[in-house]
Amino acid sequence: MIRQLIGLTLIGVGLAACDQARVDVSTSEAGPHVVAATDIEAGRYLVMTSGCNDCHTPGYAPSGGKVPESEWLKGSGMGFMGPWGTTYPHNLRRTVAGMTEDAWVEMLSTREDSAPMPWPSVRAMAEPDKRALYRYIKSLPLAGEPAPTALPPGQTPTTPYENMMPVMPTGG
Ligand code: HEC
Repeated sequence: MIRQLIGLTLIGVGLAACDQARVDVSTSEAGPHVVAATDIEAGRYLVMTSGCNDCHTPGYAPSGGKVPESEWLKGSGMGFMGPWGTTYPHNLRRTVAGMTEDAWVEMLSTREDSAPMPWPSVRAMAEPDKRALYRYIKSLPLAGEPAPTALPPGQTPTTPYENMMPVMPTGG
């Protein structure tokens, strides 16, 4: 009897260890990523800490982040002009409204243009983080206009823009 009890206890401990192991394996398969009570909360945290608002939310950076969440990620009519032409941070609420979560993950994993969007950093995010971003942005109401269309190099924008053209110091 005692032996049976010990046996059962050992099986119980073994199963608990397996459960633990399963959790660990799935965590390490995904690599490091943000874990929060909900994916939406994780996505909100990522948006706040990864700089997305700095460009995609008008007035966010100049006001030191004092823009209400109701205005976040609505895109910007302030262009970034550089050797790549002039680009505008998209209205990400519209972006997620128009694509599936899998298409979003695919885009964040493969897209390379254009500056100054930090594509290399976004590409490096773990897949659960990319999904959390989508779920958070999708939880925001669809609002705001689409950003202006990007211009090729050499065209002067009719919108306000920041000049990011590299300037070499002239020798003196
Ligand atoms: C330094 C400014 C800057 C930052 C920071 C930034 N973006 Fe962008 N983003 C842009 C610009 C500019 C574009 C437009 C690029 C283009 O036209 O090719 C863009 C485009 C995008 C697009 C493509 C949208 C579409 O509809 O095609 C996605 C998605 C995106 N950004 C997500 C993010 C996320 C998520 C973050 C935060 C992790 C972020 N961006 C941070 C400037 C920025």
